[in-house]
Amino acid sequence: MKMSSLFAPTLKEDPAEAEIASHNLMLRAGMIRQLSAGIYTYLPLGLKILNKISSIVREEMNRVGGQELLMPAMQPSELWKETGRWDVYGPELIRFRDRRERNFCLGPTHEEVITDLVRRELRSYRDLPVMMYQIQVKFRDEIRPRFGVMRSREFIMKDLYSFDRDKEGMQKSYETMYEAYCRVFERCGLQYQAVRADSGVIGGDISHEFLIVAQSGEEKMMVCRTCRSGYPEDEERCSVCGTSTLEEKRGIEVGHIFQLGTKYSRSMNALFVDKDGQEKPIIMGCYGIGIGRTMGAAIEAYHDEHGIQWPWNLAPYQVAIIPVHKRTAKIVEIADMLYNTIKDTRYECVLDDRDLRAGHKFKDADLLGFPVQIILGDRAVDENTLEVKIRQNGERIDINREDVLETLENIRKSSFHN
Ligand SMILES: Nc1ncnc2c1ncn2[C@@H]1O[C@H](COP(=O)(O)OP(=O)(O)O)[C@@H](O)[C@H]1O
Ligand SMILES: [Mg+2]
Ligand SMILES: [Zn+2]
Repeated sequence: MKMSSLFAPTLKEDPAEAEIASHNLMLRAGMIRQLSAGIYTYLPLGLKILNKISSIVREEMNRVGGQELLMPAMQPSELWKETGRWDVYGPELIRFRDRRERNFCLGPTHEEVITDLVRRELRSYRDLPVMMYQIQVKFRDEIRPRFGVMRSREFIMKDLYSFDRDKEGMQKSYETMYEAYCRVFERCGLQYQAVRADSGVIGGDISHEFLIVAQSGEEKMMVCRTCRSGYPEDEERCSVCGTSTLEEKRGIEVGHIFQLGTKYSRSMNALFVDKDGQEKPIIMGCYGIGIGRTMGAAIEAYHDEHGIQWPWNLAPYQVAIIPVHKRTAKIVEIADMLYNTIKDTRYECVLDDRDLRAGHKFKDADLLGFPVQIILGDRAVDENTLEVKIRQNGERIDINREDVLETLENIRKSSFHN
């Protein structure tokens, strides 16, 4: 991608509405724009990152046997009345009527819709277990939308639902998903912590939240220094390893998994015929990841005073080529050659071909957070030398032009997040 044609309107000043770094940086880097309170457009760079997170999530859900489907955002009230949540959910549920005066809501979550689907389609123990998921837009009329896409009213979530014959099966599905979540956040290059949690309005017995460790996090947690078990903030002792060395940390909730049991299958009559010929309620679990919130949390975890420091796997482009004097024809030529070489490999790269001062380009590259910057000055022409800057630690090295791909591969391999 050439920077001259990239639609990423950057801002020099801190936007007044941003209370935390990730919101500020997403706006300044031209990744998002607000349409209305808690409602955002993802601009091309923002969407590219969102799609990277979605791909990692999708691959890990597929790997453990999750099957992707897509359910409607528009949901009839009848289903929500069956489970009682039409009343319980309160003003967070966005409700409206269609032209025939039927009540609908915009789905904040999809337990009702998926349970309605399986009760019609799954009959026998032979159909179980099954896991289905979607990556889709959710609506919640948050009382206080804030922090940009991290707590918004319309947001992208991955929600997976598991269906099993018995409690043991559900527990196995839950463990499988727990491990898949660990892989998702590892692949995103994020430091995460699983914590026992409240089930809230979703319901069920056992649930865990996955938090990205960050100073600015809204949640407090206690983490065992010995075995790394995580607990809610009121916990005093580590029941897993029996020690009392709990340390307080802060984090951002990016994922939440629940053992639902029969909460939805009983109220909605989602039954299957078991091996013994008996009709029994399907045993369920549900598992969410906030895709946009994960993007925000990654920025909270990885930024400095100059901008974002993308983990390798989330970076919209891993490499930025920055020719410093646009008017020196030879530099432009070398930059073009380099761009053409790199863009046909596994690395995604941008060429800053804009007619701007070098300082301006450097500032933007730091702000947008590309992991590697390749800077071309006079020495690129005179000595065949390129300067490579690693955004994560500010390190600079000089390399020969021929060694560029090898250098990129070494940086990728040694990055904390490849
Ligand atoms: N308003 C929101 N904006 C962005 N992401 C959200 C929002 N609410 C929830 N999420 C994401 O969806 C995931 C699953 O949501 P859930 O646990 O049902 O929500 P909550 O914790 O608010 O009750 C959360 O872990 C979070 O990553
Ligand atoms: Mg939650
Ligand atoms: Zn412990």
